[in-house]
Amino acid sequence: MQHEPKANSLSSAAAQKGLLFGTALCTSDLQLQPLADAILHNCNIITPEYEMKWDAIARDSGRSDYSASDQLMTFSSANGLALHGHALWWHEAVPSALRNASGKRFSDAALDHLRTTVTRYAGQVHSWDVVNEPLEPAHDRGDGLRATPFLGAFGPEYIETAFRQASLLDPNAVLVLNEMGLEYVSPAAERKRRQMLALLERELGRGTPIGCLGIQSHLTALEQPHDHPELRGFLREVRGLGLSVMVTEMDVSDHLCPRDRKQRDAIIADTYRGYLDLVLDEVRVLAVSTWCLSDNRTWLNGFHPRPDGAPQRPLLFDRAIRKKPAWHAVKAALLHEGQGASDPVQASQ
Ligand code: G3I
Repeated sequence: MQHEPKANSLSSAAAQKGLLFGTALCTSDLQLQPLADAILHNCNIITPEYEMKWDAIARDSGRSDYSASDQLMTFSSANGLALHGHALWWHEAVPSALRNASGKRFSDAALDHLRTTVTRYAGQVHSWDVVNEPLEPAHDRGDGLRATPFLGAFGPEYIETAFRQASLLDPNAVLVLNEMGLEYVSPAAERKRRQMLALLERELGRGTPIGCLGIQSHLTALEQPHDHPELRGFLREVRGLGLSVMVTEMDVSDHLCPRDRKQRDAIIADTYRGYLDLVLDEVRVLAVSTWCLSDNRTWLNGFHPRPDGAPQRPLLFDRAIRKKPAWHAVKAALLHEGQGASDPVQASQ
């Protein structure tokens, strides 16, 4: 039974439009009570940031250790939260023991991991990132596919293989193809959007059971435009393919922003608002999730360190777990009146 969204929370704002709201987390986050409380108050879907990935589960002994991902699964079911499984096949989450494997040794191991993991949580997860980041235009393949061990071992059919296996083992989960960099305003991003549409058309044409496109939404303040006709057009074409969308990993890097905290927080909030307004305008969105909830832990401090050395402030709560302007901006966007694309579907669909 899904827990009732709490009043004045992001999940209650989202529920009014038939969406789920959530965030990524690690088991260590559950030890910080104010953060755990903020997650429980605001979220009705959670995503394991790391602990459900292949390299986090695999052990050098060849055994698998699901204890951490089981703990997150238990936390979600005990609190009536949906869980978005992340990520079954991702080139950056291949266990070290298999990084130089290829051919049948790799494909057997990859299939075994997918089958074991999907079977373990079948019927318990809302959705899966079945394949993460399949495209890389810079790899100059006509189909835009990233040259990964999965492509090497299975060929381009690896995407169909993964989705068909996941669908067989958990027919009720929403199966997501998750990608980064579709949101940006650059020739490379436009090329990636075109390649994604071609990939989706190819896969759907052969019956690959992709239910939803995951758009990671790692944004950069002062780079992300307020309006973005190419992104609007892309989302309309995704909708035309009959696919829903999940905003899977939203955060807003402030590395280009001035140091002043008030200014930064206002610019970040404005970026969240403009982006979500656009996406919610154009497509049916199943869930909006941020990539962690508070500034006390964000991958961006490593990926986009600020030139002035100040810690990033990319998320909705500050390091003392207090709401920031971004929280209010996301809530306003979720309540967005003009949301034409989403019919008030059951949030759990
Ligand atoms: O937990 C271990 C710890 O025991 C060990 O001592 C330490 C040093 O090796 O590593 C810790 O694990 C780290 C883990 O994050 C938890 O903090 C891994 O090394 C580190 O690689 C892992 O980074 C994650 C990264 O994906 C790779 O899995 C980031 O937290 C996570 O934010 C990032 O998220 C990705 C999405 O999955 C896909 N989209 C892009 C996004 C950002 O890169």
